Amino acid sequence: TWTPDSFVETTVAQLKEKIGTDKVILGLSGGVDSSVAAMLLHKAIGKNLHCIFVNNGLLRKDEFPSVLKQYEGMGLNVKGVDASARFLDELEGESDPEKKRKIIGRVFIEVFDDESHLVEDAKWLAQGTIYPDVIESVSATGGPSATIKSHHNVGGLPDFMKLSVVEPLRMLFKDEVRRVGASMGLDPLLLGRHPFPGPGLAIRILGDITREKVAILQEVDAIFINGLKDAGLYDKVWQAGAMLLPVNSVGVMGDERTYEKCVALRAVESTDGMTADWVNLPYEFLQKVSNDIINKVRGVNRVVYDISSKPPATIEWE
Ligand code: XMP
Repeated sequence: TWTPDSFVETTVAQLKEKIGTDKVILGLSGGVDSSVAAMLLHKAIGKNLHCIFVNNGLLRKDEFPSVLKQYEGMGLNVKGVDASARFLDELEGESDPEKKRKIIGRVFIEVFDDESHLVEDAKWLAQGTIYPDVIESVSATGGPSATIKSHHNVGGLPDFMKLSVVEPLRMLFKDEVRRVGASMGLDPLLLGRHPFPGPGLAIRILGDITREKVAILQEVDAIFINGLKDAGLYDKVWQAGAMLLPVNSVGVMGDERTYEKCVALRAVESTDGMTADWVNLPYEFLQKVSNDIINKVRGVNRVVYDISSKPPATIEWE
């Protein structure tokens, strides 16, 4: 029978056998899957695992330094690369959601390629692909090739894509990944983190992205997420976040008229993100969070709560 401990034991042995003394590159995202994959490889090959954690400038408030520190504390050989300026410069003036995603995907590949060149003689690219990703890529492309695969004669690809791919979580579902992580002693706070999209706050800032908007949304998001944690609601919610709307509305502050931004809070229950219901958060909680946001975040004078389920509304607004 399958147990997390036996999975760790056999997988670590297989990885040792397969990889030997080769070097492996892995992109950490701060999420559960890449972190658990990294720990398995770390157990198998130690310092020959070279992890890269990229700051795209669209992470949550303080996420980059705090997650980097956490990875270092886990003993991982990890390099933090702050490419915020590069991402934000390239996104300037772009307000189309799919184009934002494309820009972020392209810049990530460029940054990752540059970084992977610094690891001499790397032979493998490790990924935290899990079973649902495998299934999704089969149905999306007609073949199991949507994740980065090793090929021969692939002249046009970034160099890291020419590495052989190793995906130790390929056969696991999300809850199994969490159990494997727990059996290796990963921080429950890391294992229990809400999903967060790769393009980050870029798809929660409706319209064009500026550094100022990112800073505003990071503050709003932090108040909401910390509020959920303080109220003991974080673990009851599958995913939560805030959207910065391209809308100004009139308010009053003291005896001044204001004309400032509106944010929407969203919290959903789900099992896989394919369908989702909005969460009936207590009014008292929403009241407190709304007051905190409006009092503490300059530039925001209105907070609304999203009560749409998926379908037809998606979880993200873009
Ligand atoms: P939607 O908005 O489609 O989101 O209901 C479903 C889940 O997917 C996440 N999401 C993304 N994740 N890149 C990602 O890595 C993306 O472009 C992206 N778009 C949505 C979303 O956060 C939710 O968990």
